[in-house]
Amino acid sequence: MKNLVVSSGAGISAESGVKTFRDADGLWENYPVMDVASHDGFLRDPALIHNFYNMLRAKMVNAQPNAAHYGLVELEKYFNVNVITQNVDDLHERAGSKNVLHLHGELMKVRSLKDESRVYKLPCDELTDKGLETSVDTRDPYGDPVRPHIVFFQEAVPNIEPACELAQQADIFVVIGTSLVVYPAASLLHYAPRNAEVYYIDPRPSAVPSYVHVIPKTATEGVKELIEILSK
Ligand code: APR
Repeated sequence: MKNLVVSSGAGISAESGVKTFRDADGLWENYPVMDVASHDGFLRDPALIHNFYNMLRAKMVNAQPNAAHYGLVELEKYFNVNVITQNVDDLHERAGSKNVLHLHGELMKVRSLKDESRVYKLPCDELTDKGLETSVDTRDPYGDPVRPHIVFFQEAVPNIEPACELAQQADIFVVIGTSLVVYPAASLLHYAPRNAEVYYIDPRPSAVPSYVHVIPKTATEGVKELIEILSK
């Protein structure tokens, strides 16, 4: 089977009712990103960041995967599909995608501040807070405080190496719903082999090299068109 590698961003979750970051009325229009999603911001005011991610988790509870997420699961019948996502939601997993690699962390997880290998999926009865919310007072079974399992701005992206390796193995590389402004995620497109077919699905696509086949549509419409193209 050919390798089909997807690199998805907030746009694939837009039709599930999840706000993107940089569109009109996007998340960063309403929250100061360096206060609520940066390493320095967490050192400065951890309570503010706990509350920001508690709010995002509460919004995610009602979100459902959309036809674009399910379309990628459909493609697993014909291709070896790996999804690399900048998204911290779990919509790809809930749609049924088997291979999902998160570059910027996972909203439904927190980890020990003392030992980053101790990761807890919320809700988690091992924590002193049993629901989807955490605070500076939340403790894990070792008595340690926790933090969102999110890659904050100013922090390294630990999964970028395996992501680059996947991109280098791609026969088909598909970028969906990302403004391509945040690195190193935005560079993945350039790791696809020269002879790979590269597609970019986005209703307002950013500038990309001329060899990229741009499908200027929403994720649901664009994935449907992609499936038609690939089924020929
Ligand atoms: N279908 C497909 N794409 C869409 C849709 C849709 N229905 N609606 C909007 N888009 C596109 C926009 O045109 C834009 O190109 O989704 C993209 C969203 O861009 P951003 O808001 O910048 O989101 P993203 O590229 O995922 O941001 C990257 O920035 O803040 C950090 O960590 C955060 O992972 C995030 C990273």
